[in-house]
Amino acid sequence: MSSSTESLTKVISPARTLRGSLVLPGDKSISHRYALLAGLAEGTSKFSNFSTGADPHSSLKCMASLGATVSVHKNEVEVTGMAGEFLVPRQPLDCGNSGSTMRMLAGLVASQPGDFTFVGDESLTVRPMERIRKPLEQMGAKVTLTEGHAPMTVHGAKLKALSFEAPIASAQVKTAVLFAGLRAEGTTSVVESVRTRDHSEHALRAFGAELKRDGDRLYIAGGQKLKAIEATVPGDLSSATFFLCAALLFEDSNLVLDAVGLNPTRATLLDVISGMGGLVKVLDVQEQHGEMVGTIQVNRQKALRGFDITGALTASLIDEIPALAAIAPYTENGMKIRDAKELRVKESDRIALVVKNLRAMGAEVVEHEDGMDIPGGQKLSGGVIDSGLDHRIAMAFSIAALRAEGETTIHGAEAAAVSFPEFFDYLDELAIR
Ligand code: S3P
Repeated sequence: MSSSTESLTKVISPARTLRGSLVLPGDKSISHRYALLAGLAEGTSKFSNFSTGADPHSSLKCMASLGATVSVHKNEVEVTGMAGEFLVPRQPLDCGNSGSTMRMLAGLVASQPGDFTFVGDESLTVRPMERIRKPLEQMGAKVTLTEGHAPMTVHGAKLKALSFEAPIASAQVKTAVLFAGLRAEGTTSVVESVRTRDHSEHALRAFGAELKRDGDRLYIAGGQKLKAIEATVPGDLSSATFFLCAALLFEDSNLVLDAVGLNPTRATLLDVISGMGGLVKVLDVQEQHGEMVGTIQVNRQKALRGFDITGALTASLIDEIPALAAIAPYTENGMKIRDAKELRVKESDRIALVVKNLRAMGAEVVEHEDGMDIPGGQKLSGGVIDSGLDHRIAMAFSIAALRAEGETTIHGAEAAAVSFPEFFDYLDELAIR
C-alpha cells in the first residue's frame, strides 16, 4: 500500500493472502459507555486499552466540558467523575462525528439542572435525534432540535420514570432512556422488539447500578449512584470485522485476534463468518465486567459462500454490513441484505455509498430502499472509492480492494480514524503481497 496526499487518499494494491496476529484497540461502544459513566460516577476510573478512535474521545472531551477530570496517555485513560452533578458548560458539547456520544449523553444530562447544547460535524448534524427527544420529553426533560437534528439543546429537569417500548432497534436510544432512568423518580423499564447490544446494561452494573430483567423487560430504579471502576476494554469486534472479511477472501489465510470482545449481542458475526466458509476457533474466553473476551482464530476452510442478512440478523450486524457487502461479489452465490433501512441514517447513507462504490469497482448490484442484492461470482477491478468520510466505508472497500484486479484509490481514507486510526498500518502488516 502506498499513499498519495497522505491524509486523504490511500492506494490499496491486491494481496496474495492475509496472515498474522493482532490485539485490537478497545471496543468503541464499550469505551463510550465507560467514558460517560465514569464522568458521572464518584471517584477515579482507570481504563486500559481504551478505544483510540476519535468517537470515544469525543465522549471523553464532553465529560471534561461537564467538569470531569480526564487524562489520556495513549490508550490508558483516567476519569475523575462528578459524583452525580455535572457542571453546565459555557460552550456547546461538541460530539464530532459521534452519534453515540450525542444520543447517550443526552440521556445522562436530561436529569441535571441546566441547558446543555450539543453540536456535531456535518454528518452528525443530519442524523435523526427525534428518536431520543420523544422518550426524554415523556420523562419530563425538554429537548429542542433543529428540524429533527442537532444542534440540540437538552433542558434538564426532574425526571419521572417511563415504561418505554422501543419503536426502533437502537442501542443508543435504549441507553439514553436507561441513563435518564438512573436519576428519575420511580422505576423506568424498557422493552425492545429486537434485542440490541447490551453494553450499557453491563457497564451500568459494573459502575454499581442495579438493573433487573423480567422476560423481555429491563428495569432500572431511579436515584442510583455510580462508583468508579478499573477496567480493560476488550478489543473491538466491529474493527476486527474488516480483517475477518479479508481472511475470508484467501484460501491460505490465517488470522489470530487476541483479547477481542465476544459479547453475544455483537458476536453474531462469527456465525456469519462460519456460514461463509471460515473456520472460526474461539479460545481462552473470560468475563470482564460482564463482557466476554477471548481469542479468535480464523482461516478459510471451504469455498466462499454468501449469506442472507435479513430481520433480526440485520440489527445485530448493523455495523458489519458494509464490510460483508464489500466482499459479497467474490462469494459463490451472492448476498441479499434487507431490513437495513437504518443504514441510510448512519455516518453516511451506507446503502447508497456501498452501491456506488461496488459499481465503481465494476460490480453488479441492485439497490433496495432497505438493502441490496449483490450477485456472487463477480470479478472486481480496482476503482476510485468515495468514503463519504464514513469510517466503515473507507475500511470496507480497502478490503474489497485486496482481491480486485489492479489498484484501488480510497478518497477520504482519513475517516478510518473515527473508530480505528491504526487500520491502514495493520492492513499493511497482515496483507501479504
Ligand atoms: C451503537 C449502536 C448502533 C451502532 C453504533 C454504535 C452503540 O447504533 O450502529 O455504531 O454503541 O450503542 P444505533 O443505536 O443507532 O443502532
